[in-house]
Amino acid sequence: MSVIENSKLTVVGAGSVGTSIAYASLIRGAARHVALYDIAHAKVEAEVLDLAHGTQFTGATEISGGSDLSVIEGSQVVVITAGAKQNPGQSRLDLAAVNAGIITDMMPKLMEVAPQAIYVIVTNPCDVLTAIAKEVSGLPAHQIFSSGTMLDTSRLRWLLAHRVGVSTDSVHASIVGEHGDTEFPLWSTATIGGVPVLDWRGPHVDPITREELDHIAADVRDAAYTVIQGKGATNYAVGLSTTRVVEAIFHDQRSVLPVSTVLDDFHGVSGVALSVPCIVDAAGATPIKETRFDDEEWRLFEASAEEMRRVAADLGH
Ligand code: 2OP
Repeated sequence: MSVIENSKLTVVGAGSVGTSIAYASLIRGAARHVALYDIAHAKVEAEVLDLAHGTQFTGATEISGGSDLSVIEGSQVVVITAGAKQNPGQSRLDLAAVNAGIITDMMPKLMEVAPQAIYVIVTNPCDVLTAIAKEVSGLPAHQIFSSGTMLDTSRLRWLLAHRVGVSTDSVHASIVGEHGDTEFPLWSTATIGGVPVLDWRGPHVDPITREELDHIAADVRDAAYTVIQGKGATNYAVGLSTTRVVEAIFHDQRSVLPVSTVLDDFHGVSGVALSVPCIVDAAGATPIKETRFDDEEWRLFEASAEEMRRVAADLGH
């Protein structure tokens, strides 16, 4: 894929997630120019230098950054990772109050510098924060959305691919709902090489059982807890999955990706941000309303929406 001329991505937040997104975007050439912004001056300057020292070997040609908001000027895509991170034993929703404050304070400042940009929220709890950021910024839903369950979906595909011994890109299955504890897979439409998962009969592979699917769904849901317990954070996979979203925007790909937008009558669900398969292109993200759910999946989706409403109400939104 060629790098788009004059494309500029800014990543807000130079922590482990922000720098991993910048690093993945540089290597994959997701944008011609990658900028990193953080209020911690010495940290962001050092991260930019470290990344710049490798640009002989990357797809993108320019890396810049600093603690002045002018860093963001001219960006067509702004990815937000700033905020408190999840510690072992914490859920993403435990970060809601502190990170809602950060996003509420930051959005108007970012909007002054880059009002036309597409905003991708990665900071957790990303669905709750997307709804708040949309409200504060006044942007339309397609222009401000979250990486949502992109990463969970990648985790799901990896587990299924390993289970049956095929490549991950031959697995078509998505996690939808909250990027968090109420998320769930759309098993009713999941396929491996076009074959419904429960019908898969590959050579030397036992058929997958319904019980196994429940275990796989739980493993995906709890994956971040497992990684955070072991290394204190998750960063590489979120770096790659967010970069995939950025590429779809810059290349106007119209890729179908599970990202989280504030829904407007998605089968009766409105006003909360949740992931469903969306078309991602240069205009941002648009939910595919025709996505099929079975009755149990609708029940789970409504429960996820209810959880988002509860958290938003607790925060006074
Ligand atoms: C993840 O799922 C913590 O949201 C982050 O890796």
